[in-house]
Amino acid sequence: MLLDTYGRKATDLRVSLTDRCNLRCTYCMPEEGLQWLEKPSLLSDDEIVRLVHIAVTRLGVEEVRFTGGEPLLRRGLVEIVGRCAELEPRPKLSLTSNGIGLERTAQALAAAGLDRINISLDTLDPEVFHRLTRRKRHADVLAGLRAAKEAGLEPVKVNTVLMPGLNENEAPELLAWAVEHGYELRFIEQMPLDAQHGWQREGMITAGDILASLRSRFRLEPEPDEARGSAPAERWIVDGGPERVGVIASVTRPFCRACDRTRLTADGQVRTCLFATEESDLRGALREGASDEHVAELWRKAMWGKKAGAGIDDPSFVQPQRPMSAIGG
Ligand code: 5AD
Ligand code: SF4
Repeated sequence: MLLDTYGRKATDLRVSLTDRCNLRCTYCMPEEGLQWLEKPSLLSDDEIVRLVHIAVTRLGVEEVRFTGGEPLLRRGLVEIVGRCAELEPRPKLSLTSNGIGLERTAQALAAAGLDRINISLDTLDPEVFHRLTRRKRHADVLAGLRAAKEAGLEPVKVNTVLMPGLNENEAPELLAWAVEHGYELRFIEQMPLDAQHGWQREGMITAGDILASLRSRFRLEPEPDEARGSAPAERWIVDGGPERVGVIASVTRPFCRACDRTRLTADGQVRTCLFATEESDLRGALREGASDEHVAELWRKAMWGKKAGAGIDDPSFVQPQRPMSAIGG
């Protein structure tokens, strides 16, 4: 088991498959991109599958989510998913993607054993998309969303970050669109994880702002607490249901007490939290020939050191060195 000193048990593993991306979302990366990790420092497909195997057989991990950067840019993705789907016990498998290229791979991913997908989309306006992501790929994302649904990767969840002055007024329109197309929309408060360290608490769009904006057009009732479990999203029933909308209030209403996450970066470091300032190296141990049990023990030790919470709203908060794209969302 992956336990920590606050009594939490990590059963949900996030694996970043690459730090690269084909978009440049302003809340994530600078225009020119970042200094990408060198190929030899990345975990190989075999190393990833071995770590997932250790996680499910020795550490109690039940769910594995592949992230990036953009995980569809990882060449071996379909094979990695397929090999993880053959593990015993079989973990639940999901993907967080920007949707670009999914039109071509959604069927293969579903056939390989992918269960669910989260796709990032912040706006319905191609112009605003261009300004937010610095790329003209809006139509590709919409095509990816359709393909995900057709491939049965359901529920298809859509992640949206609202940015002041760009898409801050789009919440109601996005929800109407999601309800119409059968996607489950979740708003994520902008977090200080951008490489440029440009996040500002003042002016950020909060969960409170988002709910007020949605209520101008929809009736929202909170979903009973027991339905939430360790999910970071608080959910609301839309106009009597069955549709739901989620809000992930990482900044203003953090959910660290129920956190069940453990993370692996693309270069094989365990992170106990998105906002952790320390990492524990598993790649080195793998490459020095460590046994499965030794790697498992390093992982358990890392999680035992997990902090109580991120404390973004706390004056003493320090942004981690690694940006979101190198940690995995
Ligand atoms: N704050 C909030 N969400 C972010 N994401 C990326 N960077 C940030 C940030 N700074 C989102 C992406 C994606 C998910 C993995 O996290 O839009 O949906
Ligand atoms: Fe790419 Fe995701 Fe970062 Fe946007 S937020 S640049 S899609 S990694």
